[in-house]
Amino acid sequence: MGLELTGIVVIGTQFGDEGKGKITDFLSEKADIVARFQGGNNAGHTVKVAEHTVKLHHLPSGVMHNKTVMIGAGVIIDPKVLEEELKTIESIGKKPGLFIDPRCHIIMPWHNALDIAGEESNNGSIGTTKRGIGPCYADKCLRKGIRFEDLVYERRLEEAIERIFPEKKKILEKVYGKKIDFSAESVFKEYSRLGKKFAPFLKDVSFHVCAQLEKGKEILFEGAQGTFLDNDFGTYPYVTSSHPLSGGVATGIGIPINKISRVVGIVKAYTTRVGNGPFPTELQGKQADDLREKGEEFGTTTGRARRVGWLDIPMLRTAHRLNGFTELAITKLDVLSGMKELKVAVEYDIGGKIVKNFPYSTSTVEKAKPVYKTVKGFTLSGKEKKFSELPKEAKDYLKLIEESLGVPVKFVSVGPERNETIIC
Ligand code: GDP
Ligand code: IMO
Ligand code: MG
Repeated sequence: MGLELTGIVVIGTQFGDEGKGKITDFLSEKADIVARFQGGNNAGHTVKVAEHTVKLHHLPSGVMHNKTVMIGAGVIIDPKVLEEELKTIESIGKKPGLFIDPRCHIIMPWHNALDIAGEESNNGSIGTTKRGIGPCYADKCLRKGIRFEDLVYERRLEEAIERIFPEKKKILEKVYGKKIDFSAESVFKEYSRLGKKFAPFLKDVSFHVCAQLEKGKEILFEGAQGTFLDNDFGTYPYVTSSHPLSGGVATGIGIPINKISRVVGIVKAYTTRVGNGPFPTELQGKQADDLREKGEEFGTTTGRARRVGWLDIPMLRTAHRLNGFTELAITKLDVLSGMKELKVAVEYDIGGKIVKNFPYSTSTVEKAKPVYKTVKGFTLSGKEKKFSELPKEAKDYLKLIEESLGVPVKFVSVGPERNETIIC
């Protein structure tokens, strides 16, 4: 008999921005290591502790507890962004241990330029974060990528840039008609400096995570994005280029799937989406504006206004099927406070047919009309510290989610601060 397994995954159940950063920070107090396993700096995770509000793009949210943080092989990294982020963290007195897997791919300047050019030429059709995410993951699959292990060896970096740059320049200039403000020489100069800087952090994350799990250490895996932005199971093509599902931990860190003991689904008490794509419960007009203002729903990464809507149970039910939640954390319950009544989509009507799950086809999702259940609203005092202190109608709202999914709600977040979290 081995020690109890303590791999815990934090997953976004909707379209991202569910409050994964806040809950990861909260849970990381007890964790030994916090690791990211997919995505890049398209992620924007906000952690608020007393006077500090930190917006993290690459670093796992365990940094505020000074935990060892690790970036797994499935993550793509913009080293310029990581450098800035480390400076920010250090400026507030945090010095977490950092491991970067040498297999992580690097987001190069041409990836950003191609992301922007692609969106412009396509009328902003996906509404990406323009951080170079799609082009970088595409190059990884095409085997035209540069990995962190290449960045730290000048010769290898120089060779890679010489091989890759001319083709990227040609595409940007000839296909998109863009003028680029970088050359092979300027990129080499800047990235070899970054390679030297980050060389000491390179460690085989897969090896270390497995070794620590064997010792019974608690490891928190922090998802980025959300279930319905998954490249396969999201609303394709309005998705990101990685796999934000719990299964992504195995391939993104390099651990066997049976090392995970808990999967925490983060559910925003309503739904938001940034970028394009179907959104069955989306609100429009004044109701949407009021909810957006109250929830401060403006993107952490791009500052874009987030689209807002009611809670969507078919989405959550499907997210549970895809991720296997052992527990849920409901965030931003305070934002719904003061509303007379709330609507919750419990099913969809698709051309007269009632369905309980999120359809696989985006064109079908576009036709889905939510079947709403109207429930009584609630008003929070802002002083609730325990589940028993919540008003009955708030408890009923949580119960509706629990019963619809058959998964217990273990945490309720009633404000952005670390201490505004109720353990149920
Ligand atoms: P993430 O990408 O999933 O980490 O979420 P973001 O950080 O992008 O967006 C969530 C936003 O809601 C952040 O500004 C958080 O500070 C904030 N937040 C998290 N939980 C709560 C909560 O319970 N109530 C309120 N009012 N804000 C919250
Ligand atoms: P966190 O981790 C919300 C969205 C973009 C766009 C689509 C593809 O903070 O929850 P990409 O730049 O990844 O190619 O964009 O995915 N998107 C997110 N939306 N939260 C995120 O991350 C997101 N990361 C990407 O808006 O619609
Ligand atoms: Mg976010």
